Amino acid sequence: MSDPTIIQELESIRQSGLDALAGLNSEEELQAWHAAHLSRTAPVMLVFQKLGKLTPEERPVVGQAANQVKVALETAFGERSAAVKEQALAQALASEKLDVTLPGRPVVHGRLHPDTQILRELYRVFGEMGFQVYRSREVETDEYNFQMLNFPVGHPARDMQDTYFIDAGERGDNPLVMRTHTSPGQVHAMQEASATNPQNPPPVRIILPGMCYRYEQTDARHETQFDQIEGLAVGPGITFTNLKGTLSDLARRLFGQHVRTRFRASYFPFTEPSAEFDVECFLCGGKGCAVCGGGWLEIGGCGMVHPNVLRNGGYDPERYSGFAFGLGPQRIAMLRYGINDIRYFWENDLRFLEQF
Ligand code: DAH
Repeated sequence: MSDPTIIQELESIRQSGLDALAGLNSEEELQAWHAAHLSRTAPVMLVFQKLGKLTPEERPVVGQAANQVKVALETAFGERSAAVKEQALAQALASEKLDVTLPGRPVVHGRLHPDTQILRELYRVFGEMGFQVYRSREVETDEYNFQMLNFPVGHPARDMQDTYFIDAGERGDNPLVMRTHTSPGQVHAMQEASATNPQNPPPVRIILPGMCYRYEQTDARHETQFDQIEGLAVGPGITFTNLKGTLSDLARRLFGQHVRTRFRASYFPFTEPSAEFDVECFLCGGKGCAVCGGGWLEIGGCGMVHPNVLRNGGYDPERYSGFAFGLGPQRIAMLRYGINDIRYFWENDLRFLEQF
């Protein structure tokens, strides 16, 4: 049998705890009560510590009784705390200390970076036109960034792309570089596709987006890092007309049904023939303004893939042809929003970013 005095003692602990709690009305009083009745040194807790000294028969009986008292005190404490909180709120409302008619503080919403917004729009438009996204590495070899694209070692066209070299010269004529354009991805993509069926390589229709790096003197139009979106279509019988159609359609989807476009002859080592692609300035409607000058805006470069580049990708230029283009998404965003300095994009100034 259990010790009747301990059971009695527990009952009086319970009763005095509940009595003391009943009259409490403030948070401070509740805390003091908790310290006296439920902390480690409270009477009910001391009973638990004494359990070890009891007989094996007494132990479960007393243990259970003590636990019931503890739970009863905890439950009562929870209920009283809730009641006290509710009372305080009611009092505050009654004395109008809490003005529920005050307007709330505005929540600051995050948003997508303008660059991300324009990239996503371009992915959507190209997706509708049947292009898949192909991602390629940012650290390249000289071989892929230049040689495979028909810029041999020492070729003067390399001067157009000031390059960050990232090895110490161990690799001779094939140093590692930060890619200066997304064009090397063309060769990776063609090699990957042609490896699946070297005799009859499958057609390719992809866009290659990504960050590019150049060792530039920065100014309003040049940054050391910028995005490009490259496009590539390879297959039997692809012509310059397909290229013109694709880019003209792109311009209409981006800027409106009636926008006019034009192609100007140009030079890139990896395309032949090559062209520069312009869109009629939508800011001034082609009249000529501070942004465009003569009424036309240059959007990117393009051309028919050079036979050497097709061959490097595993496509026989006698049987296959292709077109390629390279666009600057930041440039498109600048034109569309009238942003006059490319350096704003990566400065992380909220006054700029919050406008989009
Ligand atoms: N890679 C070129 C550059 O960064 C842009 C370019 C021009 C890409 C013509 C192309 C192209 O695919 O056909 O200057």
